[in-house]
Amino acid sequence: MNDSSMTKNKELVQWVDDMAKMCKPEKIYWCDGSQNEYDSIIRIVVDSGLAIPLNKDKRPNCFLFRSDPSDVARVEDRTYIAAKTKDEAGPTNNWIDPGELKKTMKGLYDGCMKGRTMYVIPFSMGPVGSPIAQIGIEITDSPYVVVNMHIMTRVGRRVLEVLGEDGVFIPCLHSVGKPLAEGESDGPDWPCAPIEKKFISHFPEEKMIWSYGSGYGGNALLGKKCFALRIASVMAREQGWMAEHMLILGITNPEGEKKYIAGAFPSACGKTNLAMLIPTIPGWKVETVGDDIAWMKFGADGRLYAINPEAGFFGVAPGTSLDSNYNATKAIEKNTIFTNVALTKDQDVWWEGIGYDAPAGKIIDWTGKEWTKGSGKVAAHANARFTAPARQCPAIDPDWENPNGVPISAFLFGGRRPSTIPLVHQSFNWNHGVFLGSIVGSEITAAAISANIGQVRRDPFAMLPFCGYNMGDYFRHWISIGTKTSADKLPKIFYVNWFRKAANGEWLWPGYGENSRLLKWVFERCAGTGTANETAIGYMPTQDAIDTTGLNVSAADMRELLDVNKDDWKKEVADIREHYAKFGDRLPVELKNELDALEKRLN
Ligand code: OXD
Ligand code: MN
Repeated sequence: MNDSSMTKNKELVQWVDDMAKMCKPEKIYWCDGSQNEYDSIIRIVVDSGLAIPLNKDKRPNCFLFRSDPSDVARVEDRTYIAAKTKDEAGPTNNWIDPGELKKTMKGLYDGCMKGRTMYVIPFSMGPVGSPIAQIGIEITDSPYVVVNMHIMTRVGRRVLEVLGEDGVFIPCLHSVGKPLAEGESDGPDWPCAPIEKKFISHFPEEKMIWSYGSGYGGNALLGKKCFALRIASVMAREQGWMAEHMLILGITNPEGEKKYIAGAFPSACGKTNLAMLIPTIPGWKVETVGDDIAWMKFGADGRLYAINPEAGFFGVAPGTSLDSNYNATKAIEKNTIFTNVALTKDQDVWWEGIGYDAPAGKIIDWTGKEWTKGSGKVAAHANARFTAPARQCPAIDPDWENPNGVPISAFLFGGRRPSTIPLVHQSFNWNHGVFLGSIVGSEITAAAISANIGQVRRDPFAMLPFCGYNMGDYFRHWISIGTKTSADKLPKIFYVNWFRKAANGEWLWPGYGENSRLLKWVFERCAGTGTANETAIGYMPTQDAIDTTGLNVSAADMRELLDVNKDDWKKEVADIREHYAKFGDRLPVELKNELDALEKRLN
């Protein structure tokens, strides 16, 4: 559609008009979300050379994009929370005064869409019309964004119908930041702006997102990190719900009883793999509701119900194989967009860790150049992605689109911790669980940041780059959620660590499908059957509580995995004190008390 007749929402029509006046596109296109629309936009990018159609027999309706080498990931240091005051944004966010930021960005937006089409994308985060869902409108000059939004969110007419004449939407403005001169076109080149002109800006008071200069992933698909986490976290706090960086999975025991678990892990800790895992223990089943974000509200029964606000998976391709993630591998066989992976001679995709050697013949790497095996260079960028419809996942949960969400029985927190943190432990109660969430972190192991090796990068609730307000207030919000219902209705909280290493540097735990053994214990604890000992750090499984039948881990390794070394934990306490100091008087006293109590229990 080329006009605004799809909506009678005056505010929306006015906003689109205002943005068009500022950005000065050649034309405006309102997205209806249809397959026809998807196909015709794909045709545009294929014709320009930006997208490459993949082998129709091997990957039907799949396309490959290669981004500019400078535009390959989220840009955290160009991401801003423009709250009224710096204090409201808090110590973990970049802040610029909203007035000043708007002035700078208006200067950039002025005429930024010259020669381009401005697409207006009405989208729903969550099943359209769900009481937990929210509506956004993304304006973008990137056809790549439009086709990705088609997969990642619910786009089109149905959304505008629900929005109605006076419904509320989150305005999300995006431009790649590369106006075209008269007669100029990008050709096959990925348009974007240089780093110093990139801004991923959030205005929490106005609930508005302005993104400029990047065409990639979380910088440009504004429904995901910008809306569903940063802005939604602000809304959730104001309105008494939760917007979390969490996967959601359903787990069913051999007797057919089912529970839902949500889990927060920092980026690149295997959330997608966990959400789709295939249990190694007989009779158990895991099904996927979401792999990245959970929105939760209290139901009439006092329990927390979660939806996955997304409709697709924007997953990291390298390392994804039939072995590491069978379900994701199946989900990306068709109707999938690939970004920055390698291209084989027969027009299929390839990446490091795909589970087989690069096939014979010419391979084109993610930069578009011929790749030579053994050259020391990667063929696919480490952050290469697939964008695939969630419904294509063979393990998708039958209730994944239930508008009322699924009831959550447990929260998992975890990160990469080669030492100190045991395989699994459970919090004593809600506030202690909030404490566990607040100390989530991963040990820095990459040689590149050698000065910090061995130190823990704290990533509370895996929300460090995604919390849209002061993290201390966010902790307080978690504490307050615990007062809104009775303790037995709240999810039980667990901390897992499948990344513990032996002294020789080898992993102690095989991970992947074997993680189902821990999920089983979590399930049983929620069912009131799993046995536990009380330790200084929380409840831990009793000797035989983790099912190790058929598991190839020695009893000694199992002991090490579940070991609580008091000296290590005392160091941990000191490190947490430093971490907490950042939040000053915004740190809830409940969390300080939890830390003091832990320290006491260790003595
Ligand atoms: C993601 C991330 O892409 O967390 O999901 O970085
Ligand atoms: Mn994520």
